Amino acid sequence: MPVARTAAPRIALATYDSGPEAHADRDLPGLVGALREAGADAVAVSWDDPAVDWSGHDLVVIRSTWDYSWRAAEFAAWVEKCGKATRLANPDEVVRWNTDKRYLGDLTKAGVPVVPTAYLAPGDPVDLPTAHEYVVKPTSGAGARFAARYTPEQRDTAVRHVERMHAEGLTAMVQPFVTSIDTAGERALQFFGGRLLHASRKGAVLAPGTAYDADKVAHPDLVPWTPTEAELAVAERALAAVPVAVPGAPELLYARVDLVTGEDGQPCVMELELVEPNLFLWLHTDSQARVAEAILAAATAPH
Ligand SMILES: Nc1ncnc2c1ncn2[C@@H]1O[C@H](COP(=O)(O)OP(=O)(O)O)[C@@H](O)[C@H]1O
Ligand SMILES: [Mg+2]
Repeated sequence: MPVARTAAPRIALATYDSGPEAHADRDLPGLVGALREAGADAVAVSWDDPAVDWSGHDLVVIRSTWDYSWRAAEFAAWVEKCGKATRLANPDEVVRWNTDKRYLGDLTKAGVPVVPTAYLAPGDPVDLPTAHEYVVKPTSGAGARFAARYTPEQRDTAVRHVERMHAEGLTAMVQPFVTSIDTAGERALQFFGGRLLHASRKGAVLAPGTAYDADKVAHPDLVPWTPTEAELAVAERALAAVPVAVPGAPELLYARVDLVTGEDGQPCVMELELVEPNLFLWLHTDSQARVAEAILAAATAPH
């Protein structure tokens, strides 16, 4: 009698072609290995590789597509295509919502504490704070690309920064510089498969006087962190506010909530990363097996 065999779930981890000099995903080889050990047919592939048949995978997990913010239109087209071809995590509508930082406005409307943000679209007058230090950055950005901090005296440089973004069709965000970041840093709470995975604390990225187009260290001085109850509560409220509009879409497979301490001493959201968060598994080695397990469960869950 023939024995019924269940094929190994086919899982693609989407990364990018980092080239020899750029930032490679340190977590990827270990994660592919852990998935294979757990019985999956797992591969890491570049999201822009034209030879990949995405429909040939049971699940595509966006992992380290770290060039997407400056290839936004191409990436959006890929996300849509891939979401139609197979199961994509996170789901395409979540990725679409999260690739534009105006989502912070949706969080604010939902009552989640967020770093106060003004938006300057191309054509808008360049209205900048005059009473305190502030940050200018793009609504479509990652890795602190095109971000810089300014004092009111540096207005001319800040205006040139905003104008450069507008010339490239980018909308600028203006936020008060969160002064606590220089001492308390930023806390990254990582969720996977609907549960807290681990948390890390990182130092401030924007040093005074650093040019907006300089290359920055995106996660300096990273150390493991035990989240406070207040941090967990804010992170969970942020996740609860994510609009998942498509009926039947799988819940969020992964999320990173980056928090800072606001003027009132309470945690507030700097960024909610639902596209391609660095997982920092090299720092949290115990988390690798849990991540592999959650990915495998997502690949084999009934549609
Ligand atoms: N309002 C702010 N106050 C202080 N530091 C900021 C502020 N906005 C951004 N930064 C610094 O710049 C980094 C990158 O900004 P972020 O909003 O996280 O964008 P992304 O990580 O997507 O590039 C943050 O991790 C933080 O160190
Ligand atoms: Mg960030």
